[in-house]
This record gives sequence, C-alpha cells and structure tokens, in this order.
Amino acid sequence: MENSHTPLAKFIHWTFTILYAYGIFKQVEDLEELDNVALLNFEIFFAIVFLIIVLLRYFYMKDVKTLLGAHEEMHKGHLFIAKATHRLVYFSLIMLPTTGLLIAGILAAGIPGMQVAIAIHEFSAFLSYVTIAIHVGASFYSRFKGEGVWNGMVPVWKETGKRDSSLITKLENVENKFYDEIDDRLIK
Ligand code: HEM
Ligand code: HEM
Repeated sequence: MENSHTPLAKFIHWTFTILYAYGIFKQVEDLEELDNVALLNFEIFFAIVFLIIVLLRYFYMKDVKTLLGAHEEMHKGHLFIAKATHRLVYFSLIMLPTTGLLIAGILAAGIPGMQVAIAIHEFSAFLSYVTIAIHVGASFYSRFKGEGVWNGMVPVWKETGKRDSSLITKLENVENKFYDEIDDRLIK
C-alpha cells in the first residue's frame, strides 16, 4: 500500500494553490490604488481569509511526515531540506497577508513607516516566488526519479514506480554527498 496524504490535505493543498495564484495575479500595483475604498476593503477581507486558511493548514499539517509518499526511507539531509523549504513557504505565506494588513493599518492611521512596510511586503512576495519555484521544481525532479513523493500529493499524471538509469544513479550519488554534508553540518 502506498503512503498518501489525506484527502483533506490534498484538498487544502490544491484549493490553496488556486487562492495563492489569485492573490498574486490580482495584486495591488501601487499605493494610490488603495484610495478606492471598495478595493481597500476587499484587500483587507482577502488578506484575513488567506491568513486564517494558512494558519489552519499549518496546524493541520505540522506533524505530518515529510515526503510521505516515498517508497524508500529518505536520507535525513533530504528530509531536512524539504521540511525547511515547506517552513519557508509557510513563512512567506504568513508574511504576505500580515504585511498587507500592516500597510492598510499604516494607511488608516496615517503614521510613518509605509515605505518599510511595502519593502517587507514585496520581499515576502519575492520569497514566496523563490521557495514555491524550488518546491515545484523539486516535486517534478522527484517525479522524474519515481520516488513516490509525487503520488502522495498530486492526483494526476501518476508515477508508475522507481526509475533506474545511469543518469539517475549519477544524480543520486551527487545528491547523497550533499545530504551527508547537511547531516554532518546541520543535523548531527
Ligand atoms: C504544480 C504545483 C505543485 C506541485 C506539483 C506540488 C507538489 C507537492 C507535493 C508532491 C507535496 C508532498 C510533499 C511531501 O509529502 O512532503 C507537496 C506539499 C506541499 N506543498 Fe506543494 N505543489 C505545488 C504547488 C504548491 C504551491 C503553489 C504551494 C504554496 C502556495 C505549495 C505548498 C506546499 C506545502 C506547504 C507542502 C507541505 C505539505 C503541506 O503543508 O500541505 N505547493 N506539494
Ligand atoms: C494575501 C494577501 C496579499 C497578497 C497575496 C499580496 C500580494 C502582493 C504582491 C505579489 C505584490 C507585488 C509585490 C512586488 O512588486 O514584488 C503586492 C503589492 C502591494 N500590495 Fe499586496 N498582497 C496582499 C495583501 C495586501 C493588503 C491587505 C494590502 C493593503 C491593504 C496590500 C497592499 C499592497 C500594495 C500597496 C502593493 C504595492 C507596493 C508598491 O507600491 O510597489 N496587499 N501585493
């Protein structure tokens, strides 16, 4: 029997992916746009809903095994990097709405600090792009090797099993050296 994330975990992962994409595409272009009170109120509402869902999801997932679907025992260094990336994704997803709400608060109160709040907001967006790109890239790479991780979360284009080739063996040797380093320097 393959290990798989629960239907609820998968549901949250994929509906949240849509919510995140929507949040990024409908982004405020500049501060003047927020003179429109309806848009400002919608932004505040969206940020609160987004933040609540991220927090609920974090607490639901925090004790779930990382790389759950893997057929074989994963290297400790590998698990460490995957977990760290997931945490950075969560950090950026919490910072985005929080700093958005901070912008709204500074606007309403008319106090200084707007440039700093916007800079942190933009940095949070940047961090989310980078960490999510790494996450998606790593998922496709794992699928290419047929490790089982993909099948644990992604309902389409299922893997059919571990793939063996000289290229994969070479890549895994390089990876294992890297994971050993992580293990020696950061875990042990
Ligand atoms: C094509 C897009 C994506 C693919 C193929 C993908 C794939 C996966 C896979 C295979 C896992 C399971 C990893 C494990 O078992 O440890 C996972 C978990 C996770 N994904 Fe994605 N993902 C995608 C998009 C996203 C996006 C856009 C976000 C954030 C907005 C995200 C955030 C996470 C997080 C935080 C986890 C850890 C489990 C959890 O807390 O729900 N993923 N993803
Ligand atoms: C989950 C909620 C939110 C998401 C996902 C989000 C996302 C983004 C993104 C991706 C950008 C572009 C950053 C860049 O240029 O790199 C942006 C810019 C901006 N956001 Fe948000 N945002 C959210 C909530 C808010 C809220 C609540 C406010 C204020 C009411 C706000 C105000 C702004 C402003 C003023 C900018 C433009 C900054 C500039 O002048 O360059 N955002 N947002």
